Amino acid sequence: MSASSVPTRTQIAIVGGGPAGLMLGHLLSQRGIQSVILERRAADHVIERVRAGVLEQGTVDLLASAGVDERLRALGMRHDGIYVAFSSVRHRIDMAALTGGRAITIYGQNEVVRDLIQARQRTAEPLLFEVPDAAIHDLDTGHPRVTFTDDGRARDLSCDFVAGCDGFHGICRASIPADRLRTYERTYPFGWLGILANAAPTSDELVYSLHPQGFALFSMRSASVTRLYLQCAPDEDADTWSDERIWNELDARLTTEDGWHPARGPIVQKGVTGMRSFVAEPMRYGALFLAGDAAHIVPPTGAKGLNLAMADVSRLADAFDDYYRGGQSRSLESYSDRGLRRVWRAQRFSWWMTSMLHRAPEQGEFDYRRQLAELDYLVGSTAAMTSLAENYVGTPIA
Ligand code: FAD
Ligand code: PHB
Repeated sequence: MSASSVPTRTQIAIVGGGPAGLMLGHLLSQRGIQSVILERRAADHVIERVRAGVLEQGTVDLLASAGVDERLRALGMRHDGIYVAFSSVRHRIDMAALTGGRAITIYGQNEVVRDLIQARQRTAEPLLFEVPDAAIHDLDTGHPRVTFTDDGRARDLSCDFVAGCDGFHGICRASIPADRLRTYERTYPFGWLGILANAAPTSDELVYSLHPQGFALFSMRSASVTRLYLQCAPDEDADTWSDERIWNELDARLTTEDGWHPARGPIVQKGVTGMRSFVAEPMRYGALFLAGDAAHIVPPTGAKGLNLAMADVSRLADAFDDYYRGGQSRSLESYSDRGLRRVWRAQRFSWWMTSMLHRAPEQGEFDYRRQLAELDYLVGSTAAMTSLAENYVGTPIA
C-alpha cells in the first residue's frame, strides 16, 4: 500500500500481523468492519517464521467458515491419532475414535499466515509491514490513537478500539498500567531445539516420546518434510549442535524396539524455543483488547498456542460485530472472562503434557518412574486416553 493511502481513522487498529492480527482483520473485513493492521517485521519474515503445525478441529472449521481454507484443504494432513512413546515402545491414541470423529490437521502456521496475507491483499484494507515504532495512546479516554512511522512518515491513527495482537514481547500488554493487570507465570528449566529436515516422514502421525535423555517429538509438514524437536537447555546455543549430533540424539530418543526411527535428510532450519506458561488478566483495558500470545503463552507440548489465538480473535470479531450492528457492548464486556476459561483449560493441559513428557534437571529417578507409570496408565485406560484426546483435538470455537 502506498504511504499516501494510509488512513487517519479506522474502526479497529490491529497491532501485530501474526496469525491473531491477520485472522482478526480477515473476520472483521467479512463483517464490514474497517481495520488497519500494523506489523513490525517484513512480510517475508512473518511468512517464513517456522512455528506451529497442529490445527485443532475448531481452528480448521473456523478457517473453512471464513473462506481461507483452499490451500489448507489441498495441503493439510488430517491426523486421527497420535503416538506416545516410552520405554522404547510406541502406543497409538486414536483420538477420532475417542471424540466422536474429531481430529487435528497438520498445516504449518507459516502457511496459515501466507493464506491470510493473500486474503487481506485481495481487499482494499491496509496491512502495513515494517512499522517499527507503533505506540498506543489514550486507551481510557474514548478517543484511542495509535502513532507510528510508515515509509519514513509519522502517522497518527484514531480508532474506536485497539486489538493487541503483537505477541508476547509486543507493546500492547506493556501499555496497560501495572495495577490494572494480574499476571501468572511459570518458566520451565528446559527448551526445545527444533529442526526442519528434507526427509520423508516415517510415521503417519506425530510421536511424543519420553526418554531417559529427555523429550523428543516427531512431527511433519508435508510428505517430504519432517519437523522434529529435542528437549534441551533453555539457553541452548543451536550452533553447538551439528547435524550429526542432532540426528544421533533424535535416534537415541525416538527409536522404538520395533525398529521405527526418523529418516535423516538435510536440515534446512534449526532454532531453540524457551518454554513458558503465562496468563495476563483481564484481556482488556479500556479500548484495548489483547488476543493470542499478547495475553497468554503455553508451552508448545500441547500444541495449543495458535489455536488459542484463533479462538480469541473469533470471539473478538463477533463481539465487535455485536457492538457495531446492535450497539451491544455486552459481548465486548464478556470477551475476557469467556476467553480466560478456555485459556486456563489449555494451560492445565499444556502444563500436564509438558510435565509428563520432559525430564526436569532437579528431578531424580523417582520422578522418572512416576512419569513412566503415568504414561503406562494413560495408554492402558480408555478414560485417560479420552481425556487427552478431548483436550488435544480441542473444543469447538463458539
Ligand atoms: P505472534 O505469532 O507472536 O505474532 C505477533 C506479531 O506481532 C508478530 O508478527 C510480531 O512481529 C508482531 N509485533 C510484535 N511487536 C510488534 C509491535 N510493537 N508493532 C507491530 N507488530 C508487532 N501453537 C499451536 O497451536 N500448535 C503448535 O503446534 C505450536 N507449535 C509451536 C512450536 C514452536 C517452536 C513455537 C515457538 C510456538 C508454537 N506454537 C504452537 C505457538 C504459536 O506459534 C503461537 O501461539 C502463535 O504464533 C500466536 O500467534 P499471535 O498472532 O498471537 O502471536
Ligand atoms: C509442530 O509440528 O511444530 C508441533 C507439533 C506438536 C506440538 C508442537 C509443535 O506439540
